[in-house]
Amino acid sequence: MNAHKTPHTSGPNGLAFGIDVGGSGIKGAPVDLATGEFAQERHRIPTPQPSTPQAVAEVIARLVDEYDLPAEVPIGVAFPAPLQHGVVRFIANLDASWTGVDLPALLHRETGRHVVAVNDADAAGIGEVRYGAARDADGVVLVATLGTGIGSAIVVEGHLLPNTELGHLEIDGHDAETKASDAARDREDLDWEQWAERLQRYFGVVEDLFSPDLIVVGGGVSKKHEHFLPRLHLRAPIVPAQLRNAAGIVGAASLAAEDARRTADAV
Ligand code: BGC
Repeated sequence: MNAHKTPHTSGPNGLAFGIDVGGSGIKGAPVDLATGEFAQERHRIPTPQPSTPQAVAEVIARLVDEYDLPAEVPIGVAFPAPLQHGVVRFIANLDASWTGVDLPALLHRETGRHVVAVNDADAAGIGEVRYGAARDADGVVLVATLGTGIGSAIVVEGHLLPNTELGHLEIDGHDAETKASDAARDREDLDWEQWAERLQRYFGVVEDLFSPDLIVVGGGVSKKHEHFLPRLHLRAPIVPAQLRNAAGIVGAASLAAEDARRTADAV
């Protein structure tokens, strides 16, 4: 295994708490960083409506309180928006009042813990690179999550280029995720073949722009990958995510542990 892919551990138990904030549910679990597996069962609380920062922060604090975790266990949050150094830049699928919010600062006030917040697809990308389908991959890895929106992560030799936001590429005059996400498949009642045509167009454009060596497809629908991945013809191999819906939680936890360790080393 290359050094950059060595999973990071933190604290006496190598534990961090990962949280995935989605449009319908907020899910969390403690993650064993040696294996990338949940150390205890995942819990889910429905996303409050409206999904304002304060309401979501309170749900996250409740979720963390459901486990008996030592105070030094850090929290990693996978969040469905671009986050520049923890600050939400814009938001497509949660309450608009999130724009400009410093998420780690808000959650540190709510929980008292070390908090790292990253884009959900970036977290899933790190999860897949460190523990999943891209574990042995060299070169440029593109991880795309197909859900309410389309999330993207680009990881080069273990290094993440954050906030690529390739779901919002304009393709054929449309914001790509409004046509090719899993939600679009649902909304327009597309069959697998029709949806695969949209995915072919989408991944074809992305492949021309970034020349990935490997494409990993995540999101809930990736468990039905046999219906659409074989219909796609790309230069790079395109494979289903291995951690599926756990990837965001696991990747965010791994990044939180790494950050907590870096902070501790700096003092
Ligand atoms: C957001 C991204 C997010 C993706 C998947 C998009 O609408 O802009 O930040 O990664 O949805 O949740």
